Amino acid sequence: MRYEEKDILKVLYTQEELRDRVARLGEEIARDYAGRAPVLVSVLRGSYIFMADLTRSIDLPCTVDFMSVSSYGAGTVSSGEVKIIKDLSDPIDGKDLILVEDILDTGNTLYYLREVLEARKPASIAICTLLDKPERRAKEIWADYVGFQIPDGFVVGYGLDYAERYRNLPYIGVLKPEVYQG
Ligand code: IMP
Ligand code: MG
Repeated sequence: MRYEEKDILKVLYTQEELRDRVARLGEEIARDYAGRAPVLVSVLRGSYIFMADLTRSIDLPCTVDFMSVSSYGAGTVSSGEVKIIKDLSDPIDGKDLILVEDILDTGNTLYYLREVLEARKPASIAICTLLDKPERRAKEIWADYVGFQIPDGFVVGYGLDYAERYRNLPYIGVLKPEVYQG
């Protein structure tokens, strides 16, 4: 048993299920962007593992860049306040962007990020999220590519954290509520 497994209520998606789904997302993106060279923008830190697997499954001359925004601190509820902690390294005017997120929850983070990036005049912006919790949406924002739609409940692993922990679990699991309810 892995060290942090005792805090997991149940496994939602195994390593194999994640591998298969991410491979298919990559193929879909490669088809849709054939003839173009999109910039994949990873929204740190939650998307780092998804980003690594997704980019390897996209058979196109794509490039990568990274951005970091503040979201929850140590809590589990979005504040609606978003701050850029780390900006992109390169200009994006005229580029086809694909924002890569771990999870689209209230939508506050991506709604804000999309506005900030649109002002820099890219040719297009698409959103690719591994997980989507549509029930919790507070902003009008929907992803173009979704790995899995999940019901409400706090999940961790495969890059997703609770208070910066559990990111290294190789699967996605539901966290036991007593872990974050104290
Ligand atoms: P939003 O702004 O509410 O859409 O939140 C997006 C961010 O909140 C994600 O990128 C995650 O970092 C974090 N988040 C939302 N739900 C979960 C979850 O169930 N587990 C881990 N992180 C989450
Ligand atoms: Mg995140």
